[in-house]
Amino acid sequence: MKTLGIGMVGARYGAQMHLTNFTNLPAGAVEIRGVCSRSKESAEAFARDAKVAFVTDDFDALLARKDIDVVDLCVPPAKHHEFAIRAANAGKHIIMEKPLTGYFGEPGDPEPIGLKVPRAKMREGARRNAEAVREAVQRAGVKFCYAENWVYAPPIDKMRRLIAASQGSILELRAEENHSGSNSVFSRDWKNTGGGALLRMGVHSVGACLHLKQWEGQQRLGRGIRPTAVVADVADLVHSDAAVRARTAGANQWISANPIDVENWANLVIHFEDGARANVIVNDTGLGGLNTRVTAFMTDGVIKANMTSNDAIETYAPDAAVFSNEYFTEKLETKAGWNRPSVDEDWFRGFAQEIQDFVGAIRENREPRSGIDLAVDCVEVIYAGYQAAEEGRRVGLV
Ligand SMILES: NC(=O)c1ccc[n+]([C@@H]2O[C@H](COP(=O)([O-])OP(=O)(O)OC[C@H]3O[C@@H](n4cnc5c(N)ncnc54)[C@H](OP(=O)(O)O)[C@@H]3O)[C@@H](O)[C@H]2O)c1
Repeated sequence: MKTLGIGMVGARYGAQMHLTNFTNLPAGAVEIRGVCSRSKESAEAFARDAKVAFVTDDFDALLARKDIDVVDLCVPPAKHHEFAIRAANAGKHIIMEKPLTGYFGEPGDPEPIGLKVPRAKMREGARRNAEAVREAVQRAGVKFCYAENWVYAPPIDKMRRLIAASQGSILELRAEENHSGSNSVFSRDWKNTGGGALLRMGVHSVGACLHLKQWEGQQRLGRGIRPTAVVADVADLVHSDAAVRARTAGANQWISANPIDVENWANLVIHFEDGARANVIVNDTGLGGLNTRVTAFMTDGVIKANMTSNDAIETYAPDAAVFSNEYFTEKLETKAGWNRPSVDEDWFRGFAQEIQDFVGAIRENREPRSGIDLAVDCVEVIYAGYQAAEEGRRVGLV
């Protein structure tokens, strides 16, 4: 089989994560043949590490290269749908980081849009963006690989096998994620990210829950079990009276989330057509390193998946400097005291497996486990959640 030519778009955190996992594929599977970022300096720094000759700040120049089969979009969410459509029109396969898209404002919108634009309008806009990508991908006949790593994480993979082995039904899924704030400067305002913690982080939890009910339905009924409605609440805890009181007392120095017009806490309940519920709870204000878990409460058992801190290895150090530069886990504040470093974060969180599946899907002309339909559903469920939270009611899904 021929070597796939990859064009990286974006050159920071997300792109580095993908690069590591492309690099670990068997020799000859892929070759990174170009890097594009907003600034040439950033693309050049990335290209030096990745040993790539072609560097540009012009996405069209990357698309024009005949030796690039796949573009890997690791750019801020506001660019996702536009870049995906341009890539599909150029006949390139697409790997895209989450979320597929959102609502990023329209001419005439009052600013900041996260505080001023009604969520019903946002939901319509986000749906239009999402459907436009699906339409472009289907028309061009290219593969769309949605980088929802939770769907590939070994604990969720085992959960799938346990669900398939059981005859039971999932009555409740409970999915959670928290950490102390995003790395990206773009995450502070709605016009760049399309939402706050519910979209940026909750999209993983929502993706896993939708995927698992889909999977359960395929096992039991020969078709997926669809979400039908949502209720939700969202909040800006960083600017709450409680946080201000702690800041005044000097007891609030570790949370790095600094939002302009996005939420940093959310609780979303998804109703499914078989009466089951999924409960998604996320925050950008949770110290202690990244926490990501999914629990399935079934009629005949319980399955708990933990993709981050677990006791495969535990450390103790009286001083944070003891373990020097050895990596522990994402967004951990300190290596002092007792800790649970991840033994292999890329593997445990599914980054290695998603890249492997995407490359396999494109080379073998099959659908990836995480594709365009899951990506579109996540946007629809989350924006319905925003509308439900604003309007204080249950919102039906189409
Ligand atoms: N799955 C996960 O757990 C996970 C974790 C982190 C991030 N992500 C996703 O990965 C994506 C990137 O996140 P990040 O943290 O890497 O963001 P980031 O640190 O803000 O980096 C964004 C990159 O996109 C580039 N860029 C921005 N506008 C561009 C344009 N018009 N044309 C070309 N390049 C452009 C930037 O270029 P410059 O460097 O020149 O500014 C930068 O390299 C996001 O979709 C995010 O949701 C996923």
